[in-house]
Amino acid sequence: MTTFVELRGVVKDYPMGQTVFRALRGVDLAVAEGQFLAITGPSGSGKSTLLHLMGALHRPTQGQIIFEGVDLATLSADELAHLRNSKIGFVFQQFHLLPRITAWENVALPMAYARVRPAVRKERALAALARVGLGDFAYHRPNQLSGGQQQRVAIARALVNNPKLLLADEPTGNLDTQSGREIVELFSSLHKEGHTVVIVTHEPEIAAVAQRIVVLRDGLIQEERHGLR
Ligand SMILES: Nc1ncnc2c1ncn2[C@@H]1O[C@H](COP(=O)(O)OP(=O)(O)O)[C@@H](O)[C@H]1O
Ligand SMILES: [Mg+2]
Repeated sequence: MTTFVELRGVVKDYPMGQTVFRALRGVDLAVAEGQFLAITGPSGSGKSTLLHLMGALHRPTQGQIIFEGVDLATLSADELAHLRNSKIGFVFQQFHLLPRITAWENVALPMAYARVRPAVRKERALAALARVGLGDFAYHRPNQLSGGQQQRVAIARALVNNPKLLLADEPTGNLDTQSGREIVELFSSLHKEGHTVVIVTHEPEIAAVAQRIVVLRDGLIQEERHGLR
């Protein structure tokens, strides 16, 4: 079992006026390559903070983040941006789609940053949409799609540079139960195809679908459980 990304003694402080708020208080967590992990816990426990650190969006106050054997503290901002764009796909609760462009154009956006040749961008975007079951919706705009469909577009966008790691922060939080189940099944099938998947959720039913469940409380790992997979 190869470790893909590891947090060692990670502390994260947020400035709060004259003082700081300690959102993570020393977290050790190793995610194996190909693992399907759910991070759960009450609101305010530090789940999003942990995911953002794992995804190289923020730097820790103390401790180390080791990504494929590399300490992220040794990378420049440009190198971190390149790592995020090529190795990590992010999915958020609010789908964060651009409203004025079509589904395929939204999916194609990360390829512009990755300097993919324009000639192949559309083809790859259409393939990613087909992968998430939206082959017939490439020319729809976000407001012509249901919530579940919009989240699928966001997942296609996260997949389009073929990242090894998929990180999702409450991806079902804005969806009805049935659409939420379908989104979790989609993550589960992406895991089976070889992606390492980390999902943040406060819904036990969603977390249960993962292989491994880590429960956060007040910025610390409180317990770990096995999921159903
Ligand atoms: N940018 C910020 N500035 C100050 N406090 C923050 C910031 N982001 C998060 N926090 C605080 O850190 C704690 C953990 O937040 P978060 O990681 O978003 O938790 P969760 O995702 O589990 O709800 C919360 O108490 C939150 O208010
Ligand atoms: Mg959160």
